[in-house]
Amino acid sequence: MTRSSTKRLWRGRWGVAKRQGTGFWSRHRRFESCRPSHHGGQAIGRVRKGGRMSIEAQERSPMFAVVLAAGKGTRMKSNRAKVLHTLCGVPMVNYAIAALQPLLPERLLVVVGHQASEVEAVLPEEAHAVLQKEQRGTGDAVRVALEAIEEAEGVLLVVNGDGPLISDRTLGELVERHRSAGVGATVLVAELPDATGLGRVEEDAGVVRIIEEKDATEAEREIRLVNLGLYAFQLSEVREAIGELSDDNAGNELYLTDVLEIIGRKNRAVTYRLKELEEANLVNDRSHLARAEEILRRRILDAHMRAGVTVRDPVSTHIEATVDIGRDTVILPGTFLRGSTKVGSDCVIGPSTDLLDTVVEDGARVEHSVGRGAVVGNEATVGPYSYLRPGAVLAARAKVGAFCEVKNTRVGKGSKVPHLSYVGDTEIGEDVNLGAGTITANYDGINKSRTKIGNGAFTGVNTSLIAPVTIGDGAYLGAGSVVNKDIPPGKLAVGMPARAIRNAPKRDVEGKSKEMDDESRTEG
Ligand code: UD1
Ligand code: CA
Repeated sequence: MTRSSTKRLWRGRWGVAKRQGTGFWSRHRRFESCRPSHHGGQAIGRVRKGGRMSIEAQERSPMFAVVLAAGKGTRMKSNRAKVLHTLCGVPMVNYAIAALQPLLPERLLVVVGHQASEVEAVLPEEAHAVLQKEQRGTGDAVRVALEAIEEAEGVLLVVNGDGPLISDRTLGELVERHRSAGVGATVLVAELPDATGLGRVEEDAGVVRIIEEKDATEAEREIRLVNLGLYAFQLSEVREAIGELSDDNAGNELYLTDVLEIIGRKNRAVTYRLKELEEANLVNDRSHLARAEEILRRRILDAHMRAGVTVRDPVSTHIEATVDIGRDTVILPGTFLRGSTKVGSDCVIGPSTDLLDTVVEDGARVEHSVGRGAVVGNEATVGPYSYLRPGAVLAARAKVGAFCEVKNTRVGKGSKVPHLSYVGDTEIGEDVNLGAGTITANYDGINKSRTKIGNGAFTGVNTSLIAPVTIGDGAYLGAGSVVNKDIPPGKLAVGMPARAIRNAPKRDVEGKSKEMDDESRTEG
């Protein structure tokens, strides 16, 4: 897929998604149009002394969100920026954004830097990229974001771009807790059995100190309470504290984490504990990536199963976050459904099928096959072992059988390409039957040309159709014919080159199309 179509896809998915299918992504991650009741609801008229701002004012104040996504992600050992690595078909950064969207931030900023234009290209419309020219640390990244926010007051929710499992619920609770506590800063923490690589957290009477692993002493490394890289700040306080940061540390960076200590000294900074530990799966290297993706993959499968899809073998089934599936469809083992693929109701997909950006309409069956940008119409059948390339469009009840390749071709209603064919750049009418080994010669080495096959036409085995060429309605080609001139409707043509010799025999198309195939069991 080209970059521009990828971008369109992402934008379509998150920006203007209209359809709410069974897709995990569309159903749970859409940008809702009404404000959740616990944000910006009626304030409780309590005023806390000591805090710079009353709780009332905090609850009314706007919330701004920032995703930090400018880093390189050195530990990924990749030429691609870490936040562009995908999980279940979606770039990592988009998970953080999707978790923020239901909170309806006043503005949703994404700090980009390393491979900025590539990262910007996958962002949904609601997210605004701000450029951090030099990656001088997470504190510097927030400084860049603050420059883009003019408002003096409100809450700033900061989210590291490498926590794809963080939920909107957790983010909402963090903000809510921050507001109701009336503090200067609140940081999301968790106690983990293995804290390797994460900032360790010490909390004492309104002061939170975070020690990066690089800077930690032996004793500090023993701490299991870690910083998950999610923070709610009072804007005025974080703005002030950012100015006081220094890079006098092992990483020679401006650590955002130091802001907590600065704020804590002046006002109060507190921790908030993560409830669902699964969400603490942050991604720093590729083994973390695989672990997080596995959790997401199971969540997606569960969502489809709850919505009425049978998944015979969840272990071997890979469905990307962006896929829609209708109810009573059965997904058989070894199946991959990816990109903007949409599968209707009562379909059977698989086993061993890989569909990318492919639409399968109700009641269709695709078995042991590959689809890329194809459309399989109602009750059409594909496979086993066929390849539908971009622009392959099968109308209702069409059949592409075994060992066929179809590209940029419309196969009309009830038409069959049953065995061992290559059909490219072709318009096949209704109730056509192509004999085994019928091949379109659509490419002469320089140009691609089109073939047209009329309604009810029939080709014998090993027919070669040398494009551009038109086979008339009801025409009939003898076995082994090589067609380089148009065949008139209703004629029988044979030979090399094929020439019409008499009227075509009558075919009982109705009877044929009603005949059931012996392999048409509806479920595996
Ligand atoms: C950071 C925290 C650490 C915490 C961990 C949780 C700091 C100093 N440390 O460490 O306490 O446990 O996250 O995941 O914040 N980024 C920028 N610009 C930069 C540097 C980083 O935008 O100049 C972005 C990265 O793209 C990434 C996020 O900030 O999405 C975190 O950066 P990363 O380098 O992964 O920080 P950690 O070392 O994991
Ligand atoms: Ca990190």
